Amino acid sequence: MVESLIKDWDGENVIFRHDKQSGAWIIIAIHSTRLGPATGGTRMKSYRSLDEALRDALRLSAGMTYKFAVPDLPYGGGKAVIAVPPNLGSGDRKSLLRRYGALVKQLGGLFSTGPDVGTSSEDMDIIAETGAPYIFARTSSGGGAGSPGPYTALGVFEGIRVACEKLFAESGLNGRKILIQGMGSVGEALAEFLSEAGGEISFSDIDEAAIARLKGKRGYEFIPASEVYSSECDIFSPCALGGILNTETIPQLKCRAVVGAANNQLGEPGDAESLRERKILYAPDFVTNIGGAMAIMGLELDGWTNEKARENVRNAVRFALGKVFDLSAMEDITTDSAARRIAEEHMAGNRDS
Ligand code: PHE
Repeated sequence: MVESLIKDWDGENVIFRHDKQSGAWIIIAIHSTRLGPATGGTRMKSYRSLDEALRDALRLSAGMTYKFAVPDLPYGGGKAVIAVPPNLGSGDRKSLLRRYGALVKQLGGLFSTGPDVGTSSEDMDIIAETGAPYIFARTSSGGGAGSPGPYTALGVFEGIRVACEKLFAESGLNGRKILIQGMGSVGEALAEFLSEAGGEISFSDIDEAAIARLKGKRGYEFIPASEVYSSECDIFSPCALGGILNTETIPQLKCRAVVGAANNQLGEPGDAESLRERKILYAPDFVTNIGGAMAIMGLELDGWTNEKARENVRNAVRFALGKVFDLSAMEDITTDSAARRIAEEHMAGNRDS
């Protein structure tokens, strides 16, 4: 499988390391350095197999390439996956992160990283002990710009407004029903933006502690995981893991649009077509979830203030999503194809489109 996964992938390089001490596999996928140094989060979780971990790294790294290319930012796409054994102790986890940092450092700038599913700004502080200066989104006390989550959420919030404008001819959210799947660092911040703007929030999560804490907060309604796809709402917002828009779930959806933060929401490219046939407006994930990476890089490398970061994220998502919806309508193609076309034009050097 490893052979065919890499053969069929259109990226540049894959770096593998088996970390003997912990039994973890580290995979760094460098998808494209066409627009700049490969940049992407570090995902840490247990996988059923090495193939599954590799597949995740390859797909996620391509997503990062497209993410940066749509707004024409000077970064390439990469992603690291650390496939850990279940029950890794916290001491072992720390030393693994330090060895991982040393590997990133050794790559000498080929790959820069920040937090993703399973890692935090506190983890970036540890990785940066050996991995600086290629580690982003450390804590503010560790010298970084902190968590990207709230910025990603702000971009998704703006994306939801753009989708509402398209669907209902007004961007106001008063009384709009939004269902958020996954109340992690992005989902919860998103719920706050939305409810402040008058949205009616329901959420689904699998973490019992999070459910207990959030149920009834600001009037949030809890939806069990078994009903998350078939629940009626205006906007469905996937903010957990990828692959959730597929042949099984798309026929169940009772929403007008899908606008969320999770990476790789489509099970496969053909699922974009099924959403279109069902007249569900899909905001491509890599267009909508640029906020975190964009803000962190701007704050840490370009001296943006928080205010500027917020403004730039909102403008970038509004502008890009508007263009994607227009191109999709004009050319009669899915929004996913439209977004990929825009990204590819930027990668080919056509800066005016
Ligand atoms: N998890 C972020 C994403 O998928 C990755 C990231 C965060 C990259 C912060 C750089 C800085 O976009």
